[in-house]
Amino acid sequence: MDDFRYLKGSLSCEGVSMRDIAKSVGTPCYVYSCATFRQHFIRLRDAFAPINPLICFSVKCCSNLSILRLLTELGAGMDVVSGGELFRAMKVGGDPKNFVYAGVGKSDAEIRYALEQRIGLFNVESEMEFENLARIARETGIHTGAALRVNPDVDPKTHRYTSTGKRESKFGVDLERAAAFFRSYGRDPFVSLRGIHLHIGSPVYTTAPYLESVTKALALMDELTGQGFQIDTLDLGGGFGADYESDQSPLADEYANAIVPLLRDRVTNGLRIILEPGRTIAANAGVLLTKVEYVKKSGDRNFAICDAGMHTLLRPSHYGAFHFVWPTDVPAALVPPRRARELVLPGLERTEVVGPLCETGDFLAEDRMIPPLHRGDLLAVYTAGAYGMTMASRYNSHPLPVEVLVEGDQFRVIRERETYDDLVHHESA
Ligand code: LLP
Repeated sequence: MDDFRYLKGSLSCEGVSMRDIAKSVGTPCYVYSCATFRQHFIRLRDAFAPINPLICFSVKCCSNLSILRLLTELGAGMDVVSGGELFRAMKVGGDPKNFVYAGVGKSDAEIRYALEQRIGLFNVESEMEFENLARIARETGIHTGAALRVNPDVDPKTHRYTSTGKRESKFGVDLERAAAFFRSYGRDPFVSLRGIHLHIGSPVYTTAPYLESVTKALALMDELTGQGFQIDTLDLGGGFGADYESDQSPLADEYANAIVPLLRDRVTNGLRIILEPGRTIAANAGVLLTKVEYVKKSGDRNFAICDAGMHTLLRPSHYGAFHFVWPTDVPAALVPPRRARELVLPGLERTEVVGPLCETGDFLAEDRMIPPLHRGDLLAVYTAGAYGMTMASRYNSHPLPVEVLVEGDQFRVIRERETYDDLVHHESA
């Protein structure tokens, strides 16, 4: 699952103790494991090898340049959703031919920038967007490729905020409108519309929604081919799960076993497949380290007040997401045997793990049985490598946390902790 393990009661990332990292760079701190990133990428690549997909890492989930460089060196392309993400991906020397650009609200400036970088594929989400892209391509004289994001009306059975493939979502074009879309725009002289893009939601813990959406996309592609359009790309989007609890997510092989058989023959006949995984690669590769500042009781409840909160990791508060939380240093009897909502171990205490912000919604873990906490204890918030740092804010004027990358028995800072000067850098008094 990942490379965060207890050795003699003390949590390590690969060969480095989390306590040593905290001592050196302070908290809150995001710690990433190189080995886990590599292993997750390679597993996915190997599982899908029979259809040889272009694996475009979803930059939005973990966008630090060092992480993007690590994945680029492994052969990943990039899935970007803004000019800023494209800028990041370009900075680490990726080949923009291997980038895909999605998003419902691409601005003119972003489209122009992406065209100038010669990005591989625009994933277009509406008629108006296509017309705008075609206009800018014509004005700049730059030819490009595009895929139509279709909305397959499939329920991914995930949080409603991250369910994106149902008819009522703002994403893509309804399946029934897709053929008309190709008839209107499929012969544009500057933007060659030649692919279908899907992204049904995140995370998707079963394979059935993928089967359903791919099947619908293939039927559409056959219809389009029958009408004389050449479709050479199918982009399946992202959404594969991660282990917030031990063994919660299907393995890369299980997703592949479901999806590959639908596509193998088509790939033999020239279809190119793109995947846009984020979470399944990054989530388990990162842990948030936070220090307990104070403990207190309010009514019957025990509170551990930490130096990280919803400003550092928004997911618990925003989606009600579960992240396993445990002290980094515990006696042998309290080393967690697995990561689960409820563990039965001696002497645990029901605790609210909260942040320092002035909001009741500022929590990391609610109503959790964990070892009794004391001022100064270090806590690990697991599975925080995806949508952790990238969704962090400076709310209540807390500088953004430091990020650290571990490789073997070494670690290095890959983003310095912000200072108070950084907080006001763009302001004038
Ligand atoms: N492709 C597209 C078009 C997407 O919108 C997304 C994620 C992905 C790929 C990558 O999905 P992944 O493989 O990471 O599941 N902030 C939320 C997740 C939002 C996902 C947005 N789109 C969270 O913390 O759960």
